[in-house]
Amino acid sequence: MDSLIIEGGVPLRGTIRVSGAKNAALPILAASLLTDGACTFRNVPALRDLDTTAALLRFMGATVDVAPPVVTVNAGSIRTPEAPYDLVKQMRASVLVLGPLVARFGHARVSLPGGCAIGARPIDQHLKGLEAMGASITLEHGYVDAKCDRLRGATIYLDMATVTGTENLMMAAALAKGRTQLIGAAKEPEVEELARVLNKMGARIDGAGTDVIHIEGVDRLHPVEHAIIPDRIEAGTFLVAAAATGGDVLVEGVVPEHIEPVCQKLRMAGVSVVREDTGMRVRADGRPRPVDVTTAPHPGFPTDMQAQHMALMCLAKGTSVITENIFENRFMHVSELHRMGAHVEIRGRAAIVTGVEKLSGARVMATDLRASACLVIAGLVADGETEISRVYHLDRGYERIEQRLNALGARIRRVKGSGVE
Ligand code: EPU
Repeated sequence: MDSLIIEGGVPLRGTIRVSGAKNAALPILAASLLTDGACTFRNVPALRDLDTTAALLRFMGATVDVAPPVVTVNAGSIRTPEAPYDLVKQMRASVLVLGPLVARFGHARVSLPGGCAIGARPIDQHLKGLEAMGASITLEHGYVDAKCDRLRGATIYLDMATVTGTENLMMAAALAKGRTQLIGAAKEPEVEELARVLNKMGARIDGAGTDVIHIEGVDRLHPVEHAIIPDRIEAGTFLVAAAATGGDVLVEGVVPEHIEPVCQKLRMAGVSVVREDTGMRVRADGRPRPVDVTTAPHPGFPTDMQAQHMALMCLAKGTSVITENIFENRFMHVSELHRMGAHVEIRGRAAIVTGVEKLSGARVMATDLRASACLVIAGLVADGETEISRVYHLDRGYERIEQRLNALGARIRRVKGSGVE
C-alpha cells in the first residue's frame, strides 16, 4: 500500500483548479442505468471510486469507457442487475444502483453495505422508500433483493435527510408510475445536480435543493451529455490547507455558494477569503483564532470538512469545540493527530481542541477519506517529516493530490507499496 511522505513547513502559494465532484459523479453514473443509450459525462474526476463504479456498471453488462475527465456509459444491455459484495465493500455508494435498477428492470440484488470506518451507516430509509413505491424487499445472504412490476409514486417521509437515500429514491421515482413526494429530503448541491441530470434525461423533478422534492414519473428516460459540478469538499480542503500553512492560494472553478459554510468559518478564524472572477482566494498569516463547528446537513457545515477544520484548529490560539452530528464515529483522525502533538479530547460527539504552536511530523495512518485529508493538512504544517500510510483512502476522493499540492510548493512524495501494514 502506498504512503505519502510530507516535508512540512512550506506555505502554499499559487493557483489550483478543483476537479469534478466525486459525490455528484457517483449518483450520476448510476443514473445512466435508467437509460438504454450512451450517456457522456464530462468533468468526471480520476478517482478510485469512479473506477469502482465503472467496474460495477461493467459487471452488470454496461459498456463503460473511462477517459477522465470524460466517461461514457451505455446501459443498453444490462444482463445482471446486481451489485456484488466485492464491489460494494470497496465503495458503499454502490448502493446507488438499487433505485435505478428496480425502476428500470423491476429487479435488483445489491449487497448490504454494512458499517464502515465512520459509523454504522444503515440504508433503512432507501429500503423504506422503495417499499412505499411498491417494491417487495427481502434481505437474504447479505443481499437486498428488491422486486416489483412497476414502481408507483408515493409520499415518503424520510426520518433524516440522507443524501444517497434521497438520490436513490429520486432515481427510482423518475420512472415510477405517478407522483412521488420526498419529504425531509437532503438538500446537498449533489442532490440538485442529480435532479438536473435526470431532468435533462426527460424526468420531471421539482424542488431538488429544498426539503420537499416532487417527482412526476415518466415512462422512459433518454441518454444525456453532462458536465459534472466542481467538488466543494475538494475545494474546501484546499482552502483549509492554504489557510493552515499561512499561504496565498486561488482555488479556481469552485461554486462559491457551495462552500460558503466553510468560508464563513475560515473568516471567523481570521483568514482572508475573497471571491475573485475565477474562484476563491485564501490568504492567511499567523495562527488562526479558535472557531467552533457543528456539522449539519447542507447548508450547515459539512461533515466531510470536519476533519480538515480540526487540523486547522489544532494550531489555533485557544480552544475550539467541534461537534460531529452526522456520523457517530468520525473522529478516527484524533488519535493520529495526537501522534503529531495535537491536544484534542473527545467527549461523546464533541472534540475539544486546544491549539498548539506547532505540530511535529510523525508516522500516522489514514483511516478514511476525510481523515486522510486532515492528516495531509497536519503534515503540511508540521515540523519535519510526516509519513501517512494507507493513502488508498485518499485516492478514493482526491485526484493526484500530491502532484497538485506540490505545484503550490508543498513537498510531498509518494512511496509505492511500502512494506506490510
Ligand atoms: N442514515 C440512516 N439510514 C439511512 C440512511 C442514512 O440512518 O437509510 C444515517 C447515516 O447513518 C448517517 C446519516 O443518516 O448517520 C446521514 O447519512 P447519509 O445517508 O446522508 O450519508 P451517505 O448518503 O451515505 C453521503 C456522502 C458522504 C457524506 C454524507 C453526509 C456520497 C457518495 N457520500 O453519504 O460522503 O459524508 O453523504 O453528507 O454522496 C465522503 O465523501 O467522504 C463521504 C463520506
